[in-house]
Formats: sequence, structure tokens, C-alpha cells
Amino acid sequence: MMLSVQNLDKRFGGVHATRNVSIDFPAGSLTAIIGPNGAGKTTFFNLISGAFRPNSGKVIFDGQDIVGKSSLEIVRLGMMRAFQVAEIFPSLTVNEALTAAVISHQRKSWTFMSRFPVPEAQTSAEEIIELLGLEDKADTLSRNLSHGDQKLLDIGLALAMQPKVLLLDEPTAGMGPDERWRMIGKVQHLWSVKKMTVLFIEHDMDIVFKIAQQIHVLKYGAVLATGTADEIRRNQDVIDAYLGTDHHLSEAIGET
Ligand SMILES: Nc1ncnc2c1ncn2[C@@H]1O[C@H](COP(=O)(O)OP(=O)(O)OP(=O)(O)O)[C@@H](O)[C@H]1O
Ligand SMILES: [Mg+2]
Repeated sequence: MMLSVQNLDKRFGGVHATRNVSIDFPAGSLTAIIGPNGAGKTTFFNLISGAFRPNSGKVIFDGQDIVGKSSLEIVRLGMMRAFQVAEIFPSLTVNEALTAAVISHQRKSWTFMSRFPVPEAQTSAEEIIELLGLEDKADTLSRNLSHGDQKLLDIGLALAMQPKVLLLDEPTAGMGPDERWRMIGKVQHLWSVKKMTVLFIEHDMDIVFKIAQQIHVLKYGAVLATGTADEIRRNQDVIDAYLGTDHHLSEAIGET
């Protein structure tokens, strides 16, 4: 198992944000974490990526319990989260930002010993640009990118760290329908090419049902249901959990 979360629990004062959550993520899987607002999805990512420490439970990442390790240590072990980093260097082009990220990663890895890291870094940056289909934006300044392309660059910067596990918290947030499908198509493409383990939080049920191999539904911090798209669509607990929310599960379920 690439990532195995066992009996994870987290309280913020009176809020029980994560309740005894146990989920396994096999190597190379593409998994969606869904649930109503406040269900504890982002907290779950914060716990496994080391941003917060759980009150109890284990996070076994590639054979090692990482609870108590810092975010940085966890990144070095190969778990990356796409943050809104593109805006941190607005005056770098896409190519420059990715090259810088690749070099910074290599400095921390064995290729530091290489006398010529820069051409290698350039190749990797180009590979990421191609993977994300940003060829025509390679020389565009980050600040001049569209919202969607900035998000792609954020994912690209995470990819520069060559992660084993990639965490995406609502990669399509703030996008119109067309841009959403474009984004998620790219996520699916990079997952299939890189064969990495991808976890994504997503509110758009059409997207979740279309691409996720496995879906875990959180509600009030606990796992309400686990299954494939077909199983989750038909799960009465899940349907009930979404009634009265604005996530349109009923529409996504449809009668198809
Ligand atoms: N740092 C924090 N301090 C206190 N409470 C927190 C903190 N982070 C999250 N919470 C609480 O934990 C619960 C779960 O929040 P979380 O952000 O994980 O939900 P979510 O499923 O990501 O929701 P959304 O779909 O709106 O992004 C909420 O009640 C939230 O207020
Ligand atoms: Mg959230």
C-alpha cells in the first residue's frame, strides 16, 4: 500500500473534524475524497501532509509511519500537495518557475552530485510543460496566466518534486465547466503517464464519477461510504448526506 491511514482522529477544541478515519490508497491509484462543506476533507489532507498533527492514529506512507514528521520531511519523502504557489513568483515565466523548482529539488537529492544539473533541470521542466500542455505558455509570466493555467503551474511545481503521492484540494475550484474538464483531463493524463498515486478533493460530482477509481465520502469527519462511482451513486447514505446541499449529487446521479 502506498498510503495507509489508520484510525486517524483530530479535534479542534469542540469540533471533531476527523473521526477514526481509516483509508488505504494503493500505489498508482486515483482516488477522490468527497463530502459536504465542513466534512473534514481539507483537514484530512492537512493531517496526512503533516500540516496538522492528529490526536491519534497512524499515517503509513510507503511503509513508514509519518505522524509527527514535519511537512518538509514528508515532502522529502515524496508526498506533495499543490499549493497556490504560482502567485509567489509572478515575474517568472512558466519555464523559469518550473526550472527553478526542478533545480531546488535536485539540490536536495542525489543529483546534487552532478556537475551539470541545469540542462537536466531544463529537460524536466520541459517534460512537465508538455505533460500539462502548457507549451504555448512556457514563456508567459506567471502573473499573466489565466486562473486555470496558474493552477496547472501549481501542479507542475509539485510534479517537479517527483512525488510518489500527489494531493489536490479542489483542483477545479473557481473554474467554469469547460475549464474544469480541461483541468481534470490533464490531471488524469499526468496520473496515467506518471503512474503516481493521486488523491483529490472535488465538489463536482460529474468529474468525480467520471474519473475516480475509488471514492471515499466523508461526513462530519467520518467515512460515510467507500466505493466505485456506481456504488457511491446508489448509496442511500450518500444520497441523504447530499440532499439539501448545493453539490447537486441528485443531478449527477441522474437516471442514466
Ligand atoms: N485550523 C482549524 N482550527 C479550527 N477548526 C478547524 C480548523 N481547520 C478546520 N476546522 C474545522 O474542521 C471542520 C472540517 O473543516 P474542513 O476544512 O476540513 O472541511 P472541508 O470538508 O474541507 O470543507 P469544504 O468543502 O468547505 O472545503 C470544520 O468544522 C472546520 O471549521
Ligand atoms: Mg476544504
